[in-house]
Amino acid sequence: MPSLEYTAIAQCPAEAVWTIVERFGDIAEWHPGISASCLISERADAGSVRELHLPTGEVLTERLTVLEPKQRVLGYRMEITPLPVENYEASVSVQPLSDTAACVITWKARFDVLAGIDVASMATAVTNLLRDGHHGLEDYLLSDQLSAAGFAGGPHITPVALSKAYRLINHGPTVLVSARHGGCDNVMAAAWACGLDFEPPKVTVVIDKIAATRALIERSGFFALQIPTQNQLDLTYAVGNTSRAQDPDKLTHAGVELFEMPGFDVPLVEGCSAWLICKLINEPHNQETYDLFIGEVVGAWADSRVFQDGHWRYEQAPPALRSIHYIAGGQFYAIGQSMNVTD
Ligand SMILES: Cc1cc2nc3c(=O)[nH]c(=O)nc-3n(C[C@H](O)[C@H](O)[C@H](O)COP(=O)(O)O)c2cc1C
Repeated sequence: MPSLEYTAIAQCPAEAVWTIVERFGDIAEWHPGISASCLISERADAGSVRELHLPTGEVLTERLTVLEPKQRVLGYRMEITPLPVENYEASVSVQPLSDTAACVITWKARFDVLAGIDVASMATAVTNLLRDGHHGLEDYLLSDQLSAAGFAGGPHITPVALSKAYRLINHGPTVLVSARHGGCDNVMAAAWACGLDFEPPKVTVVIDKIAATRALIERSGFFALQIPTQNQLDLTYAVGNTSRAQDPDKLTHAGVELFEMPGFDVPLVEGCSAWLICKLINEPHNQETYDLFIGEVVGAWADSRVFQDGHWRYEQAPPALRSIHYIAGGQFYAIGQSMNVTD
């Protein structure tokens, strides 16, 4: 009997995820492999049955067998199914991730494969079903959050697994550093930002003592690095050449629009291609002596038009979305050609 588990992080509080997952009959709202679904009973409680319609026109039913709202766990059994399996039982568990606004979702399934069917390919198909469900739920949560936040650019923004977050800055782009404290938001440009560690992901950025953004980071304990696009060349140069200390309205003058990700009180710049929210790892010696700030990445997102499946896809995306790389004196390069090593 194959017994499969798919565990992944969702950048959303456990309670918010659970309110969606527990609506047993509404899975079609977020699972890309299900075109319609409904509950064949008044309420979703243990024993109730949902009917699922697949894009192929086939229909299957699943009975809710476990519903534990306090533990945020539900389990179900497949009853009528066109799949070549029997005794199919599955569960979903949503648990908070300490010190973050994210949660861990564990999807499990076990089943017997009918005689004559290849067990390994059936296990792969079910793993894909669990994975697609997880990604569909992430997209659904994000579009919900972004529309609640009134952010129009939402549909392209997708969460990036923290284990892949380092890839967002590995190519050395110029970044925008943003921070908030005491009702004050600010953004500056930084060329000296890079990855420091994979797990948990960490980044470094050099922030000079003359930058007004620095005090906001030190006081709030948080900052964001985001990757401006070729489209934002002038904006990047403007926030890198004017200090908020001289022009309190610098963000308006530079054309910066801010938004937030729910659960994080850190301002983010609209129109970038990726965003990393970082918790400051306070190292007063490094900060004072080298202007070097270290942050642990606690949330990561990217524009899915240009970053997909853990990889930048600049060659397929509109040129306006390319990252920019600072030299000096107002000169930048946009990212160029992709190359792969030969084996
Ligand atoms: C392209 C570019 C890259 C920059 N890189 C850095 C950097 O890595 N570190 C830094 O401290 N300042 C850097 N600066 C300068 C700051 O962005 C600049 O001091 C800014 O005005 C600070 O804004 P604030 O005082 O409002 O925080 C850069 C400026 C530009 C234009």
